[in-house]
Amino acid sequence: MSAKIIDGKEIAAQIRQEVATAAEDLKLKGIIPGLGFILVGDDPASRTYVKSKGKACEQAGFYSITKELPAHTSQSELMTWIERFNRDSAIHGFLVQLPLPPGLNETQVIEAVNPAKDVDCFHPYNVGRLPLGTEAFAPCTPAGIVELLVRSGYEPAGRHVVIVGRSSIVGRPLSILLSRKGHGGDATVTVCHSRTPNLSQFTRQADILVAAMGKTEFIRGDMVKPGSIVIDVGINRVDDPGVEGKGYHLTGDVHFPSVSEVAVAITPVPGGVGPMTIAMLLKNTLQAAQRQIT
Ligand code: GUN
Repeated sequence: MSAKIIDGKEIAAQIRQEVATAAEDLKLKGIIPGLGFILVGDDPASRTYVKSKGKACEQAGFYSITKELPAHTSQSELMTWIERFNRDSAIHGFLVQLPLPPGLNETQVIEAVNPAKDVDCFHPYNVGRLPLGTEAFAPCTPAGIVELLVRSGYEPAGRHVVIVGRSSIVGRPLSILLSRKGHGGDATVTVCHSRTPNLSQFTRQADILVAAMGKTEFIRGDMVKPGSIVIDVGINRVDDPGVEGKGYHLTGDVHFPSVSEVAVAITPVPGGVGPMTIAMLLKNTLQAAQRQIT
């Protein structure tokens, strides 16, 4: 068997088109959705992510602004920039790209962002509202995974979803979205992690398996139930001098060659979950801008 590839790029492009159309309508009312980025230090992956998010804004007709700060920025200087973005009425949503350089307090940063502009859904106020279904924004990667499943015809409702990885930005919020009532929910969810004994015993029970533990090609074909749907959230940079100009290639948390022989559908890396995260970020920013007129 050879699995169908779930094309995240194509589904993300659909969403970005929908967002761009809605942004056109907003413009007629005098509002241009605005998304801000604060990038501290020179982590190459973070720089690449912020650049592609900025490019996506441009394509959707959004205003975007990036504040780059050096790695030696003090906590108080960073907090001053967050306050500026909180007050700037042209910025409807913004994020501070993580991880921060050593010495900066991530918790304090996340808690300083105005929850109404927290398009990442990282603020404890929004995270706390997630199980209640009353959050201001959906967390981008988890919501992107749900959207990817629904739009490719693999409704989570009634299925057993096994998530491997319990991070606060993917595994845990995803488990909440999938187990909620209604759109994209109504699944039975199991969360596994690095301390789960006999992991395969759980992964082999999954109708939908989500690999989000950040371990290169960890999930192999013998860990997957035949006919299941496999979502790979991993983005691991593997040194590869053969790739000219870059010196690395990207791999997921799933060993694609063996798993695609067993699963019925699978997301590729790159081109699976990654583009969905950006599409959902735009959607959240659009929502924040729309709230300005309601
Ligand atoms: N670093 C990796 N992913 C993300 C994300 O979705 N948001 C922010 N702010 N930082 C990240």
